[in-house]
Amino acid sequence: MNSSEQRRQSVSEDYTKAVKNPATGCCCSPVPKGVVAKLAGYTDDEVAALPTEAVVNSFGCGNPLAFSAVKPGDVVLDLGSGAGIDLLLAAKKVGRSGEVIGVDMTDAMIERARENVAAAGLENVEVRKGIIEDLPVETGTVDWVISNCVINLSPEKPRVFAEIARVLRPGGMMLVSDIVADGLPKEIAANRHLYSSCLAGAIDEKAYLDGLRGAGLAEVEVKDRFVYDTTQIEAFIGSELSDSESSNCCGSGQGALAKKWAPRLAGHIASVKVSARKPRE
Ligand SMILES: C[S@@+](CC[C@H](N)C(=O)[O-])C[C@H]1O[C@@H](n2cnc3c(N)ncnc32)[C@H](O)[C@@H]1O
Repeated sequence: MNSSEQRRQSVSEDYTKAVKNPATGCCCSPVPKGVVAKLAGYTDDEVAALPTEAVVNSFGCGNPLAFSAVKPGDVVLDLGSGAGIDLLLAAKKVGRSGEVIGVDMTDAMIERARENVAAAGLENVEVRKGIIEDLPVETGTVDWVISNCVINLSPEKPRVFAEIARVLRPGGMMLVSDIVADGLPKEIAANRHLYSSCLAGAIDEKAYLDGLRGAGLAEVEVKDRFVYDTTQIEAFIGSELSDSESSNCCGSGQGALAKKWAPRLAGHIASVKVSARKPRE
């Protein structure tokens, strides 16, 4: 197994634990999981209309579909669909004539998403097992690629950007919410728990946007940016949710690390919403 495969395996193990125990787990945001959905930009109406299981197992850092022009009949692909919160929201937007595809590598997440899709009575959603670096999706078949706090977890981001460009139809759009960070110290960047928590693998905003452009996407733009302050970063790094190193993937005794680094990293970590379009040839 090469180092990228090892990284994916460790992330997948952490998300398996997280979905099996909603009270702990990976926090891709400075707020505890479970209230993330409300604070990440989903409206009260959106949250109220979803199965509770989809909301408590939401691990995102934004609402990639907010303000999107997704319309009935469209095909939407969600990279790292997790327990399915954005699949359910997208399914409502595309209606019965449209199609929603989720791709995730973690069996427990796929199972949870399928349960949530069934509970919502949706027939236009399919959850596929695969990695976002090698999508199980045909070339040029997707109107929208969405993703919520997942690309930061990829050890091979250029492959992900290339896959987004491959699967989109000409003129198709990408809308992703993700974490970006600049100047992460080695002590943070090398921390396994903080990798699964969506921090250690984050790249800086310019590299992210350049990566998308390098893959051939156009109109690359940051639509929204939420920059974390010291208190929020302290919560992000030092989540109080667990005191056991082995029980989950974030907040495992990272208090000292949080105190040390949060003031210095304030202003350097953000949740962004990025859009891009595949040129029409
Ligand atoms: C932070 S969670 C986000 C889940 C979902 N998007 C949400 O908003 O709740 C990350 C998800 O991405 C999946 N994931 C991470 N890296 C992946 C990869 N390289 N390929 C496929 N899935 C991946 C994990 O299994 C997990 O379900």
